Amino acid sequence: MLDRRRFLLGSTLGSLGLLWNQKSAAMGPSKKLDAPLVLSTWDAGLDANRAAWDVLKAGGRALDAVEKGVMVTEDSLNCCVGLGGNPDRDGFVTLDACIMDEQGNCGSVAYLERIKHPISVARRVMEKTPHVMLVGSGAQQFAVSEGFKLESAELSDDAQRSYKQWLERSHYQSPAKNIENKQNQHGPFAPTRLDDGQWNHDTIGMIALDQQGNLSGSCTTSGAGFKMRGRVGDSPLIGSGLYVDNEVGACAATGQGEDIIRIAGSHLVVEFMRNGATPEEACKKAVGRLVSMRKNKIGDIQICFLAMDRTGSFGAFSLRPGFTYAVRSRNEEKIYKSKSWFDQ
Ligand code: GLY
Repeated sequence: MLDRRRFLLGSTLGSLGLLWNQKSAAMGPSKKLDAPLVLSTWDAGLDANRAAWDVLKAGGRALDAVEKGVMVTEDSLNCCVGLGGNPDRDGFVTLDACIMDEQGNCGSVAYLERIKHPISVARRVMEKTPHVMLVGSGAQQFAVSEGFKLESAELSDDAQRSYKQWLERSHYQSPAKNIENKQNQHGPFAPTRLDDGQWNHDTIGMIALDQQGNLSGSCTTSGAGFKMRGRVGDSPLIGSGLYVDNEVGACAATGQGEDIIRIAGSHLVVEFMRNGATPEEACKKAVGRLVSMRKNKIGDIQICFLAMDRTGSFGAFSLRPGFTYAVRSRNEEKIYKSKSWFDQ
């Protein structure tokens, strides 16, 4: 019955996707603020934005801002970013992160364990190696050689509790409906178990425009809770979880990593902006691309994009309702609610 409902929902949305492709000119405008400006995914981005703003208002680089900003989230206790996050199905927290600057320099780490600030390791990969991406034990070895402390592998209390509950359910389910931002007694960004037993997951993606007119972005996550060991999502993949092109704009993604990877989501959004779409239109077109591609399979997923162009115009779009993002500029500190495909 459930499968049939999902099929019908997916088919309907697939048809809408075709309809929408023909009417894409009718899409709405994005908002615009003066530089400097920082945006990040979810309400929790407010705290992260404050740290980024300290850098930006002092005339600092967007690159420094997006690193310092998401470090706040990596430090905080939450389900889905940093060492306090939910573990994989074998009980290990594995972290993914990437960073990109205005010159196309980028660095990334994936499947990194026991290091508190994967975003800073990603930056070191960018600045100190001839490579873009390091993974697993190699990434950890590099981090330690760069002076990062090897932290305990012990889970946070919340993650331990969540893991125990998940084990009691005693079977692996792919983390499906990603109804993020759902509040619980631990706060807005804490581990949340959905009514149907599925688990939330989340990511912080941040993009900033500095006073010099340069863009940079960062993205960091512990990935889908109770994922298979070795699973890597979109967040450390340049072009999927994050993309920056200083001549055009920047985009960060959150949601079901597998589906963001399928369409190389953030790169796609930037390319839509290059071809004239506003940031919100570009995000919506990328969501539409997945809807057209996956048809009846989209009933189970959430994907969200947040984008800004080089002039400070910004916007977002998600597949399902509920995606929020935080904005900080000289005159504004605010949470915005994104439009979604399902709102149409
Ligand atoms: N978007 C985060 C992940 O799927 O890992």
